[in-house]
Amino acid sequence: MQVIADTALANYPEVKKVTTGSSVAVSGELVRSPGKGQAWEIKAERIELIGLAPESYPLQKKRHSDEFLRTIAHLRPRTNKYGAAFRIRSELSYAIHKFFKERGFRYIHTPIITGSDCEGAGELFQVTTLDLRNSPIRDEQVDYSRDFFGKEANLTVSGQLAAEMFALSLGDVYTFGPTFRAENSNTSRHAAEFWMIEPEMSFCDNDANMDLGEALIKYLIAYIFDQCPDDLQLFAKFVDKTLLATLETIAASAFIRIPYREAIDILEKCSKEFEYAVAFGKDLQAEHERYLTEIHFKKPVAIYDYPKTIKPFYMRLNTDGETVAAMDILVPRVGEIIGGSQREERFDMLAARIEDAGLEKEKYWWYLDSRKYGSVPHSGFGLGFERMLMLVTGISNIRDVIPFPRTPMSIEF
Ligand code: 4AD
Ligand code: MG
Repeated sequence: MQVIADTALANYPEVKKVTTGSSVAVSGELVRSPGKGQAWEIKAERIELIGLAPESYPLQKKRHSDEFLRTIAHLRPRTNKYGAAFRIRSELSYAIHKFFKERGFRYIHTPIITGSDCEGAGELFQVTTLDLRNSPIRDEQVDYSRDFFGKEANLTVSGQLAAEMFALSLGDVYTFGPTFRAENSNTSRHAAEFWMIEPEMSFCDNDANMDLGEALIKYLIAYIFDQCPDDLQLFAKFVDKTLLATLETIAASAFIRIPYREAIDILEKCSKEFEYAVAFGKDLQAEHERYLTEIHFKKPVAIYDYPKTIKPFYMRLNTDGETVAAMDILVPRVGEIIGGSQREERFDMLAARIEDAGLEKEKYWWYLDSRKYGSVPHSGFGLGFERMLMLVTGISNIRDVIPFPRTPMSIEF
């Protein structure tokens, strides 16, 4: 808001001392602004100084780099760009609940502290009240029977296993909460603490699962276009000139769907030199994903039927015995934004997959129980909330869409 301070103000000498970053209370007449850059201004009748910011205030009236702003994460939401980012973050989380509510999904609060590793990747943050310098030992191992929960506990890497129990009770459900991964990968797309949206649907196969993922992404983009046009313009102007065109293309196009085998084929035949080799049975790297969605297809791509060897134990084994009914959705500029699958609903198959993965079957007794009693085909996925924010804002580093990001060696705020 532009405020016009007239010399006639009783405290004008004091008002003149107001610096960038100071807080004031203003009353006066709101009028159309004759000047450029704003529609309105206030002709002040009274200006009260509330909190003066000294000249050392780190945010001055110039452009600061994102790297610098990360070092003052407590002040950066005061800038236009970060203000816009966090307004969009708020709107986007509301839109997610709205989407699921409109489709009859129930919202489930899955636990944050858990005893199981859903993804089986071992990227767990441990939760303990044991004294690290003096933990109880039994048989040369830490004796977790004396820990708070009487067994090992960790922060959740996904609410999926718990959500499945509720999908098999209430029908269509979703969780939307914080997720933690101790991945030591210092990339622009990974955070140690991030938020994930995980729908889980009973009587649902992997095709319908991809339908929902596509519908969700399109709905969220349309919602932000509709509700945050000014903030979106700011990103289109200062962060990514192609933002609006990219989002319009995504909202308007049918997503490509190809099996993993075909994706490998395309990557093997293309002329681009990749840092990581491409081969059937190898996981796709960010560079491969981005080639497919940004260069080859130029639109979102869902890849399904991955080799079972590179996917977690809970995914449903296909009839070829070699692949599972997995699906990842890739979008331009971000790469993988959704990861999901149809779940293995057959008891014996699931028990075998748990053992093959080297996990203790006993620990998953309750998960297996759901396959023992009235199991049905069901599917679900996880959408990375921050990656969705990166997509709609054009912001290229995950650290800049989280209020106080947690990444390796970084937890100042
Ligand atoms: O592919 P992921 O690991 O899938 C799961 O966790 C499943 N259990 C979800 C499910 O089926 N219910 O993770 C899902 C998504 C990824 O596609 C990505 O968008 C995001 O979560 N994600 C991360 N986002 C930020 N930082 C990280 N370290 C992330 N790891 C995954
Ligand atoms: Mg994944």
